[in-house]
Amino acid sequence: MGPERPLIGRLVVVGIGLIGGSLALALKAAGACREVIGVARRARTCEQAVELGIVDRAVTALGDVLPQLEAGDVVFVAVPTLAVEQVFAELRDGLPAGVTVTDGASVKGSVIAAAEKVWGRVPDFLVPGHPIAGSEKSGVTAARDDLYIAHRIILTPLENTDAGHLQRVVQMWQATGAEVLDMPVGEHDEVLAATSHLPHVIAFGLVDTLAHDAENENIFRYAAGGFRDFTRIASSDPVMWRDIMLANRDAILNAIDLYTANLASLRGAIAAGDGEQLMGVFTRAKAARDHFTKMLAKKAYTEPMQTQEVTFIAQPGGSVSGRLRVPGDKSMSHRSIMLGSLAEGVTEVEGFLEGEDALATLQAFRDMGVVIEGPVDGRVVIHGVGLHGLQAPPGPLYLGNSGTSMRLLAGLLAGQDFDVTLTGDESLSKRPMNRVADPLRDMGADIETGPDGRPPLVLKGGRKLHGIDYQLPMASAQVKSCVLLAGLYAEGETSTTEPAPTRDHTERMLTGFGYDVQRSGVRHEGARATVRGGGKLTASRIDVPADISSATFFMVAAAIAPGSDVLLEHVGINPTRDGVINILRAMGADIELLNRRSVGGEPVADIRVRYAPMQGIQIPEDQVPLAIDEFPALFVAAACAEGETVLTGAEELRVKESDRIQAMADGLRILGVNAEPTPDGIVIQGAGEGAAFGGGTVDSLGDHRIAMSFAVASLRARDTIRILHCANVATSFPNFAELATKAGLKLQVA
Ligand code: S3P
Repeated sequence: MGPERPLIGRLVVVGIGLIGGSLALALKAAGACREVIGVARRARTCEQAVELGIVDRAVTALGDVLPQLEAGDVVFVAVPTLAVEQVFAELRDGLPAGVTVTDGASVKGSVIAAAEKVWGRVPDFLVPGHPIAGSEKSGVTAARDDLYIAHRIILTPLENTDAGHLQRVVQMWQATGAEVLDMPVGEHDEVLAATSHLPHVIAFGLVDTLAHDAENENIFRYAAGGFRDFTRIASSDPVMWRDIMLANRDAILNAIDLYTANLASLRGAIAAGDGEQLMGVFTRAKAARDHFTKMLAKKAYTEPMQTQEVTFIAQPGGSVSGRLRVPGDKSMSHRSIMLGSLAEGVTEVEGFLEGEDALATLQAFRDMGVVIEGPVDGRVVIHGVGLHGLQAPPGPLYLGNSGTSMRLLAGLLAGQDFDVTLTGDESLSKRPMNRVADPLRDMGADIETGPDGRPPLVLKGGRKLHGIDYQLPMASAQVKSCVLLAGLYAEGETSTTEPAPTRDHTERMLTGFGYDVQRSGVRHEGARATVRGGGKLTASRIDVPADISSATFFMVAAAIAPGSDVLLEHVGINPTRDGVINILRAMGADIELLNRRSVGGEPVADIRVRYAPMQGIQIPEDQVPLAIDEFPALFVAAACAEGETVLTGAEELRVKESDRIQAMADGLRILGVNAEPTPDGIVIQGAGEGAAFGGGTVDSLGDHRIAMSFAVASLRARDTIRILHCANVATSFPNFAELATKAGLKLQVA
């Protein structure tokens, strides 16, 4: 069904091929124009266009229809690029006032030049445009009414383009189901030279090379999928592509030069048997191709173009059971990439967490020239470049939602000889960075933050760092790790002293890579670690255990839901991470640690949790840093326990991916729980037996751990819980919904 009054009057399509014909069909299908008139040079094309119902009528001379046009009509010029000027010349002599002219040529600079030549200046009724929806098919019979759905249309209006005409063209394209964006002319032509024109040159050239080969019959006979996929576009319209090459000459020459240099270096690598270089190019290209829609902006490969919306809908009740293996530890996954990249030799990692946060770290090192294979089923192979082998990345390093990536990288990169900028998503862009910038400046780094000490971080290369003895103002493993990693590049000794022990994966892993780390008071207030700059890391094998922070959701699920019995396999139970076990046990939870063992310097166990009634407690402050990521889930446990649970000394929760105290208090209250936030904690009145939560809609604020915690709460809810903004669960626990459903939660993802 179309709009009551058509959007535009008449549409004149000059050139009734794939592009022009498809616009005509789409606007007719949408009821968006009163009449479509086609203009084609050949009478046969005109007849076909009418027969196929693409146009209402068609003529061979544009001059014949111009006198019939009036304000509100649109002329769409869809001829090969170099024929545009001739069409403009015909328009000049007879176009009535108020008619909009737009085009679909793949080069915009030449269209602007043609308009200037014909009219003396670009007229305000001309809206240059380019639908990115072509294919190797061409001609009137290729036209389709759905060609533009979900495709992009780039408009390149000039300063003097009339707003009314522009608006008409925008609406016209939107009526076809396309997404319209605008871009400066020069940028359009450069981007298209690289992404479209260069591939066409190569495809035409490759097929031509093979076709000239004496053995060509055999070559084509045996050319399988790769050849077919790669050369599809060599079937495109030669006239159109000749025109594009001539019209976008300079930008295409640049793109060809870049590519030629790259091809020459690949040739060199093959000639020299340099498999390492080939792996570098191929792994980077694979990652880029896998994310290619995200790369158009020429930023770090992982920057999302749009964040998809995910809502969890959790039906009430149920219990959890079975053997579950949650994904690999996030902290260790980050560190395995960092240290593996800086080591000498090849590091193999198993159990790597393929979540967005750790992948952001991985991509950052690829952007700095490190060859990293995988991940495939948790296996990653890192070809270390040594402490001084990183290269300047092509643009800012985009670290998504990951505070760990940004803070640890700040330390690692402060001592490099190149400049680098670290950016992140909306949540990361609100998180405090002075906690790392301050000590790094003390060490001699040149580092700038955004306003208020928030990201982006801009680090200047070539600074000489010197060791410091740093007393951490807060218990933060990220800050400690940042300083120690900068210490690898500093002259002399760098020491950190913590107000309370925090996770020590950096210290353990450095030791595992053969770097000397002096430690004292490991389990106590004042825990100290020291490194001396100028050493080296030696490649290692890393077996990443399952993440206790991810296992927590199932530990709490089993602890609160009567009838539950789960076994969580191969979970890391490092004593700086086991606060959740201690706190749940103090509340009365039934937790057994089975099959305890040491894997690659980290303690691991299978954790069995069975339902048992729990009581509220005053959470010991010394457990807070040891369970820092587990509080959202622990608050759910507290809401199910008998009596009051009080948390203090946890102000750090306010600067996590969200303000976790406020976000949880708000959500718990919506679900009917009596939860009172305090500046450094929360007081929760538990329900004891029976339903502990009502139902309702809560907002996770894009914080993965809040989203998963409320999903777990559904086990003890009376009604459905809807949880908004859950896409970031993929940062730490990509298969959460699947595993939760397997365990017994009634969770749907919408
Ligand atoms: C982490 C340290 C903690 C933790 C984060 C991971 C790490 O942050 O919350 O999820 O890997 O070092 P803080 O250092 O800010 O406490």
